[in-house]
Amino acid sequence: MSKVFSAQPAAASGDILHNDLLLRVARGEPTDRPPVWLMRQAGRILPQYRALRSNFQDFKTFVKTPEAAAEATVQPVDELGVDAAIIFSDILVVPEAMGLNYEMIEAKGPRFPEVIEKKADVDALISGENAAERLYYVFEALRLSKQILAGRVPLIGFAGAPWTILAYMVEGSGSKTFSRARRLLYAEPALAHNLLQKITDTTIAYLQRQVAAGANLLQLFDSWAGELPPAHYRTFAVPYLQQICEALPDVPKTVFAKGAWFALEDLGELPCEVIGLDWNIPPAFARARTGESKALQGNLDPCTLYADEKTIADETNEMLRQFGRRHIANLGHGVYPDTPLEGVKVFVETVKKWNYGKQV
Ligand code: CP3
Repeated sequence: MSKVFSAQPAAASGDILHNDLLLRVARGEPTDRPPVWLMRQAGRILPQYRALRSNFQDFKTFVKTPEAAAEATVQPVDELGVDAAIIFSDILVVPEAMGLNYEMIEAKGPRFPEVIEKKADVDALISGENAAERLYYVFEALRLSKQILAGRVPLIGFAGAPWTILAYMVEGSGSKTFSRARRLLYAEPALAHNLLQKITDTTIAYLQRQVAAGANLLQLFDSWAGELPPAHYRTFAVPYLQQICEALPDVPKTVFAKGAWFALEDLGELPCEVIGLDWNIPPAFARARTGESKALQGNLDPCTLYADEKTIADETNEMLRQFGRRHIANLGHGVYPDTPLEGVKVFVETVKKWNYGKQV
């Protein structure tokens, strides 16, 4: 019997998906093979993306044009055959919605002309619903992406984790040491908590709206997790991740804390379904610390994809073997923009040929 897919924005469980491998693994249901997608798959690795991007002077205008963002979201599904789409946006739209403007500088990355230094700066920020509603263009891009996908694969929504967003708001850019952001935690812990709470309130409202717009799974990117000492990660990061996960009971959630091998036990206790792993973490090490109930996502070194086809296939198969079941195949970080498309395709195809029944 054929089911009719509704193009209407659907609540988490309301829509019909033809390929729901990702959600099944997140929920702990058995599958024949792991689902596969790549962090940063919607981007410069694809010629179609570069063509679309050339229509825009700057990245921010692109992100704020829902039709274009939806097209970029779906491109990797068409070109690579991945098992999920991730909404084309950036983690930095949240600080912007809170009142801290950023610039995306070509070939260099993001820069905030003004940064958070003192209590008055934190007090001046917009937060919660008032900030989230300024991100209407992301919700529109999600709705359009759902329509174009027409149920082919699940759509992933995302946000930066509070510590990583604080780091950008305080540093004003990426950093070698993150010493300004880390200094704040020692010198003004109350102010840091105040800022983290405002970011958390905004992120919760933002992600709830992403779910209402059709996101099937949510990922939190804690890109700078590995900069913190373990005790600070426990105090300044985990409680806010906990709040966010608790506020979003209706969809599966992935927490990707890059570099936070030391926090795996804590992450394993979060009310989330999936833990993302970077390529420094051996699969068995992660499984031993997160317990049996989580799905694990990752974690091939993105540089593997520069190798010849056989090496990519061998390394991918070895990773799949080490993880076993309850695994979502991905890289250990975002795919690098100059990665050869052929290498990406070998990775995806190798995962799609895997069959637990035959291999294990
Ligand atoms: O995964 C996807 O394909 C969806 C889109 C996505 C982007 N950024 C688009 C983007 C996602 C999920 C992000 C997340 C993001 N953004 C993170 C977390 C993941 C990680 O890498 O740790 C971070 C730290 C950022 C901040 C950011 N945005 C940086 C540091 C940069 C510059 C570096 C770079 O890759 O150019 C960006 C820019 C950015 N975000 C681009 C894209 C496609 C490139 C800009 C362009 O095309 O002009």
